[in-house]
Amino acid sequence: MKKYLIIIPLAAVMVSSCSVKSPTEGSIVIDMAKKGAEVPSSMYGVFFEEINHAGDGGLYAELVQNRSFEEKEYPEGYFAEGDKLHAPPLKNHLTMKVSEETYRWNSEDIPGWSLESTGAEKAGMKLTRQNPLDPATPNSLQIIIPKDAGESVLVNGGYWGMGVKSGECYDLRFYLRTDEYKGGLIVRLMSSGGQVIANAAINISKNPGWNEYKVPMIPGQTDAKARLTFGFSGEGTIWIDYVSLFPENTFKNRPNGLRKDVAEFLADLHPAFIRWPGGCIVEGISLINRVEWKKTLGDPMTRSGQYDTWGYRNTYGFGYHEFLQYCEDIGAKGMFVCNVGLGCQYRVGDACKDGDVQFYINDVLDAIEYAVGDQSSQWGATRIAAGHPEPFPLQYIEIGNENWGPLYNQRFETFYKAIKAKYPQLTLISNHSLKSDMSGVTRTDMIDPHWYVDPDFFFDNSHIFDTLPRGKYGIYVGEYACNQKVGGGNMLAALSEAAFITGMERNSDLVKMASYAPLFENRNDRTWPVNLIWIDNLEVVGRSSYYVQKVMAENKPTYNLKTVIIPRAVSTIEPKAGNSFADSTRQFSVGGYDETTGEIIVKVVNAEEKPWQAKISINRGGRISRHGEAVTLRADSLKAENSFEEPLKISPVTTKYDAFSNEFDYEFEPCSLTILRIGIEK
Ligand code: AHR
Repeated sequence: MKKYLIIIPLAAVMVSSCSVKSPTEGSIVIDMAKKGAEVPSSMYGVFFEEINHAGDGGLYAELVQNRSFEEKEYPEGYFAEGDKLHAPPLKNHLTMKVSEETYRWNSEDIPGWSLESTGAEKAGMKLTRQNPLDPATPNSLQIIIPKDAGESVLVNGGYWGMGVKSGECYDLRFYLRTDEYKGGLIVRLMSSGGQVIANAAINISKNPGWNEYKVPMIPGQTDAKARLTFGFSGEGTIWIDYVSLFPENTFKNRPNGLRKDVAEFLADLHPAFIRWPGGCIVEGISLINRVEWKKTLGDPMTRSGQYDTWGYRNTYGFGYHEFLQYCEDIGAKGMFVCNVGLGCQYRVGDACKDGDVQFYINDVLDAIEYAVGDQSSQWGATRIAAGHPEPFPLQYIEIGNENWGPLYNQRFETFYKAIKAKYPQLTLISNHSLKSDMSGVTRTDMIDPHWYVDPDFFFDNSHIFDTLPRGKYGIYVGEYACNQKVGGGNMLAALSEAAFITGMERNSDLVKMASYAPLFENRNDRTWPVNLIWIDNLEVVGRSSYYVQKVMAENKPTYNLKTVIIPRAVSTIEPKAGNSFADSTRQFSVGGYDETTGEIIVKVVNAEEKPWQAKISINRGGRISRHGEAVTLRADSLKAENSFEEPLKISPVTTKYDAFSNEFDYEFEPCSLTILRIGIEK
């Protein structure tokens, strides 16, 4: 590290002293003859996890909350008390201690649902496990309606309301069971103001047992907080289960698909890969509530779901198949993260017995087979039967999530060998960070350091990869975000990430992949402090960090060019001991060349609240064209944030620029990331 930091600034000073003239403050020198590493197409990906209602109430298009009446189910061995869920006392395999862990618990009797009667007598409802619709989803709702109840109205309020659009079709699907109910049923969509915006009369079947009903609902009005109601006019007992209201107009019209606007907004990032299912939910608070991908397949009516590490029930609606389908739909590679028989080490941290490890190895091998196997394999045949004959684009397997220590290393080694032997074409990733003890690990293809930090960390560490040893494994920065001291995620956060990204791109021979985390937040459930994309029932908002990710990915060069930045004129530079010049100020740059368009790409971060004047020199590259483009992401202040009211306040603007040359002056705006695309004369 030290060697680099001494040599590069001195070389830069020599260039600077002859090329920087007043009033220019600094300079960027790009050497076209010094071709750097290829910037791989895998570089910019995304990390999905069911956190902050990212899927349920977010990307996944279902509008009914608690559709299977399973939300009061907790993992085996847990117990609920008021609004707390208690995890069982299990030994953490690292600390050997047993901790008392409690988690958020919804204390309502039947979350998402309410029942009102208009008459003198009142109907009642309760959950029951008698005669389940499907064994995987044991609960249903029993409604007992007495005489003189008038109309008894069962209401689902969705995930903080239901976003519906005028004239669009919503498929209502539900199941009823009754033997003696006498009376009518009208299903309605109600606006937030209490008007009926769609309705249908249901002819209740006399067939015994569960009967399925499918009804298209087309609201005559757009509403962000509509509700679904079932109005029973008669008396008797009725059981109801699996109530789903699903837009027909999903992303690419996939059944059981994704909210179109959210899926498109994510696709606009052009992610090279998607990581699924997370995150801590891979491990579970303890092993018992880890994500079980096999339970996420098939008719969503049969999916059990699971109480999620982040304090609510994951319906498993956005399951393994839907994830792989979305990857295929947007041209991304899939990354599946498997459990290695370890519960979350930040939480309960239990470990399965060594004798049970094979179960988890088989589980990940089955997952891979589901994605890429053929008809002759059990899980390949299951995928084909689900309507997808071709393999899915699964490319990466991460072995565990945020696991560490001797037991993890031992398990990683076993998993790595088993997966590699069968699927040598896959890239296998370990959880190790830059400083992990990797004793016992013979080989990993990539390691996965995570950073959730404050802005100074990213500004001060944009060179962290420069001097790391090469040749052993690649780096996948699987989770990173500036999420401390930056409000809900302001421009300072975004620019510090941009500065860090310049370092990742500059070191793309080593850092081959990165994904910001977490990805989504339903605005009503900010469990994690800062997230990339905010979701409301009808709106999607990208934070400034979203636009950093977007413009960085859209302007990925084919390879790097040697780029030296001198943020201040020589006489004013006072680098902090041990830091490079770039570290002591708030300007950062990386340059590269795009072979497909024949342009030089210069990315420049100016994280100060004043303009930065720089002279840009492009050496040894032939004659530079005058004409090109500047993509600018800027804010009025470092504290500025996007919001639902001003979603595009901080968003990129592309302008033509006609004054490029081999040496030109450029004024970088205050609080900005600028990407210059510069052509070369033929
Ligand atoms: O991104 C949120 C959480 O941060 C992830 O679930 C976990 O891997 C990390 O600790």
